[in-house]
Amino acid sequence: MMKDDIAEVLFTQEQLAEIVKEMGKRISKDYEGKNLVMISVLKGSLIFMADLMRAVTIPCSIDFLSVSSYGSGTTTTGEVRILKDLDTSLEGKDLLVVEDILDSGVTLSFLLKNLSARHPESIRLCTLLDKPERRRVAITPDYVGAQVPDKFIVGYGLDYAEKYRNLPYIGVLKPEIYAG
Ligand code: IMP
Ligand code: MG
Repeated sequence: MMKDDIAEVLFTQEQLAEIVKEMGKRISKDYEGKNLVMISVLKGSLIFMADLMRAVTIPCSIDFLSVSSYGSGTTTTGEVRILKDLDTSLEGKDLLVVEDILDSGVTLSFLLKNLSARHPESIRLCTLLDKPERRRVAITPDYVGAQVPDKFIVGYGLDYAEKYRNLPYIGVLKPEIYAG
């Protein structure tokens, strides 16, 4: 069972629903009258994105991109590549980049630069979770669901070696699972 690999539950399904609802409310208010495009960074933000967009009550469009991940390790290599790019033009759009977790900041700072070059009207960052202790690049998200300690966490889209994304809650992975 997946749950046997979890040391501690950080956010239950109910707590996640509450967090996402509040974020959706704020975003709906802030983007009233704008050209909101929610951009999901695959695959980790898939579940958060699906819930967040339904908590947004104003018109919006969505798009997806995917960047190179950590492989099966638990720390970043510092190198980012776009594996799947957006389908739509960003000219004049108000972008909201939707991430699962902000860790070193390497991924998002790369994405910010890359997306800014496509002449959007504005760009903001929305992350479900923030691990501020681990930051290596100066980057501050505009919307944060919750801060988390410097532990490796999985569930609600977050994986370890592509596993645990389908856990409906978020928990800390037992270190012996990745220490091998
Ligand atoms: P950053 O570039 O170091 O900020 O990395 C962000 C990405 O690393 C996230 O989108 C996740 O895919 C992954 N990541 C960082 N920390 C964790 C974690 O604790 N569990 C699962 N994935 C993580
Ligand atoms: Mg991710």
